Amino acid sequence: MKIGIVGLGYVGLPLAVAFAEAGHEVVGLDADSRKIESLGRGQSYIEDIPDSALAPLGERLRPTLRHADLASCEAMIVCVPTPLTGSREPDLTYLIDAANELARVLQSGQLVVLESTTYPGTTRERLAPILEESGLSTGADFNLAFSPERIDPGRTDYTVRTTPKLVGGLTEACSQRARELYELICDEVVVLSSPETAELAKLLENIFRSVNIAFVNELAQLCDRLGIDVWEVIDAASTKPFGFMRFDPGPGMGGHCLPIDPFYLAFKAREHDFYPEFIELAGKMNQAQPVFCVERIERALNDAGKPVKGSRILILGMSYKAGVGDIRESPALKIAALLRDLGGDVIYHDPHVPELPDMELASVELDEALAECDAAAIVTAHPSVDYEEVAARAPLVVDFRGVTRGIAAENLIRL
Ligand SMILES: NC(=O)c1ccc[n+]([C@@H]2O[C@H](COP(=O)([O-])OP(=O)(O)OC[C@H]3O[C@@H](n4cnc5c(N)ncnc54)[C@H](O)[C@@H]3O)[C@@H](O)[C@H]2O)c1
Repeated sequence: MKIGIVGLGYVGLPLAVAFAEAGHEVVGLDADSRKIESLGRGQSYIEDIPDSALAPLGERLRPTLRHADLASCEAMIVCVPTPLTGSREPDLTYLIDAANELARVLQSGQLVVLESTTYPGTTRERLAPILEESGLSTGADFNLAFSPERIDPGRTDYTVRTTPKLVGGLTEACSQRARELYELICDEVVVLSSPETAELAKLLENIFRSVNIAFVNELAQLCDRLGIDVWEVIDAASTKPFGFMRFDPGPGMGGHCLPIDPFYLAFKAREHDFYPEFIELAGKMNQAQPVFCVERIERALNDAGKPVKGSRILILGMSYKAGVGDIRESPALKIAALLRDLGGDVIYHDPHVPELPDMELASVELDEALAECDAAAIVTAHPSVDYEEVAARAPLVVDFRGVTRGIAAENLIRL
């Protein structure tokens, strides 16, 4: 098949590679010329896709900036960003721009699938009318479906092939074509009755995580008051083989999904005079967690007879999750900014984030930083860092990830 992928980011590029690896011809379109040039040189900009995965694809993955190149594709998959506006409402501008561009090249017989996470109704109410400006009609002339992306950057135990794929088409024929498309690269495709079901299933998955993370973060704050080790409590509860699912507390939520997607549903709910309290409460709790972390660092320094002002605080891990360099919505950024506001001399070490131009910071060498800092805060625990070494060398360590469990040291404080 010849497949077009619109938006070659964390979602689109792995998908493009999966289709090309399965022997299909892929036209990869992105609005960012730097990404297209990079792919043209055979260089990946996504950590999960090494350059060595691009080389054997040759002409099967054709990066382009030209929408006209999509006209000859049988199917086109849209993977553009769906962020929030400044006032935390869905920002569909990338999707609407992409849809307008697609409408200009849409051909009879093509299948369009939206993968970007969004509120129920987007595919039918927002995407379909724009595509129909082409003069073609949904279901009759072209097929349209929603299929949520479930990628978890950095994860290796589940791949595009082994993660079941949900699809929901506007008509039965739309669903059937989407099923056939994804069966080329996925072992299991689950067909749902509508795009709305697929859109909401994706939001349920993310909100489930957001609510549970908020709950354990709250528990961690309570354990701090009670003087109980939250990690031991969670380890203990996790021994129950049924009826309990483990979630770990941390410095707050980051990434492009969990801090954002739930508010897509909250927005849609409000349109129906419904106010989903779990979503708002979880969002509030998770957004406040970095503030709690700063207060915990402040207390730890205070116990050592030091104020935040003038203290050198080393943040370990700036990205939002271990093993990746994605800093979008990372709680570490918020912690760093709050510590700076208090007069702290913030430095950071992150092998995946060489520099932070907005904060005028660059990752420092770990050895030297451990010797020079007043406190080290483990915010994102990249596996390449030796935390025994951190505990042994830094004068004070505050661990928000529980990776120092099992290390006994006077200078060690855990969430
Ligand atoms: N990153 C994840 O882990 C993840 C997981 C599941 C779902 N999602 C969802 O997938 C969607 C994409 O997320 P992402 O992380 O890949 O974003 P991203 O920012 O990494 O990639 C999106 C790409 O789309 C391009 N783009 C923007 N407008 C365009 C246009 N009009 N035409 C062509 N290209 C355009 C951007 O230049 C960018 O390269 C979002 O809706 C997100 O919520 C992301």
